[in-house]
Amino acid sequence: AMITLRQLLDHAAERGYAVPAFNINNMEQGLAVMKAAAATRSPVILQASRGARSYANDLVLAGLIDGLARAYPEIPLCMHLDHGNGLATCATAIQNGFTSVMMDGSLMADGKTPADYDYNADITRRVTEMAHACGVSVEGELGVLGSLETGMGEAEDGHGATEKLSEDQLLTDPAEAEQFVKDTGVDALAIAMGTSHGAYKFTRKPDGAILAMHVIEEIHRRLPNTHLVMHGSSSVPEDLQQIINNYGGDIRPTWGVPVEEIQRGIRSGVRKVNIDTDSRLAMTAAIRKTLMEDPTEFDPRKYLKPAMEMMSQVCKDRFEAFGTAGQA
Ligand code: G3H
Ligand code: 13P
Ligand code: NA
Ligand code: ZN
Repeated sequence: AMITLRQLLDHAAERGYAVPAFNINNMEQGLAVMKAAAATRSPVILQASRGARSYANDLVLAGLIDGLARAYPEIPLCMHLDHGNGLATCATAIQNGFTSVMMDGSLMADGKTPADYDYNADITRRVTEMAHACGVSVEGELGVLGSLETGMGEAEDGHGATEKLSEDQLLTDPAEAEQFVKDTGVDALAIAMGTSHGAYKFTRKPDGAILAMHVIEEIHRRLPNTHLVMHGSSSVPEDLQQIINNYGGDIRPTWGVPVEEIQRGIRSGVRKVNIDTDSRLAMTAAIRKTLMEDPTEFDPRKYLKPAMEMMSQVCKDRFEAFGTAGQA
């Protein structure tokens, strides 16, 4: 059944686990997550970005969500908008059946320019008033997401970036976080804690702590009733990189966020863990392998089924690792 992010994460907080939020763009990714959730009896968050909505078509996506919820009635399901950038985007997501929206006001609507506090607090407060009136939850974001290793923020992917950000700029300020939640009323808060989006997070195998645990702990202490969200949480598994590269792909050497690091975050209040890149790698690995092993194959089901299965395995692993398994 469909439930809100607030309902889902309140339960997670009570029991001390986290829920992975998997990005989906199509039926195969939606089914991959739901099959893994059913197999492990896990509550789920499916999330769609603005890009996913325009790729899949809002009406088709709404039908897909409805179909997935009805096919798995025993699984608590939250449908969330990932990185909404304005009031209209959030409102149309709600009209299409989403039970939770993210208003990411850490960047201006162009998705590039870092926003100041007043812009972020104002737009997020207006989205929260609208969403709460509809019975829908809201995630906000405060701080510039980025890798502490490279010093690159989320508006910079490392290509042609001229200015590295300092550690201070890459971590959310706990006092400001407290003020932001007071000003906006969000249910969940994405904070900058040392991770970045995409496959290229770290150039070396992380040795020891990569999350700013002191920041997570201090924000959790000040905001015990606000669920913390960790973006950029893909682990970028080496075995998936290897399959892709063994079958004609070209993934440069790279490391993601180790699962043990995410588990440390969960012990300190992280309740929603965003994962997109790992699913992309899993599907691509399976598709490359299937097609190269049998170049005569041209039935999409023959490569999309293994793609679904490989993504589903990633989802199962995360449900188990985050303590979500058995909670549905
Ligand atoms: O944070 C971004 C998510 O990975 C979604 O990516 O905007 O390419 O769909 P996308
Ligand atoms: P990854 O790129 O690490 O999978 O992060 C996804 C994300 O944060 C979506 O909002
Ligand atoms: Na999100
Ligand atoms: Zn994100």
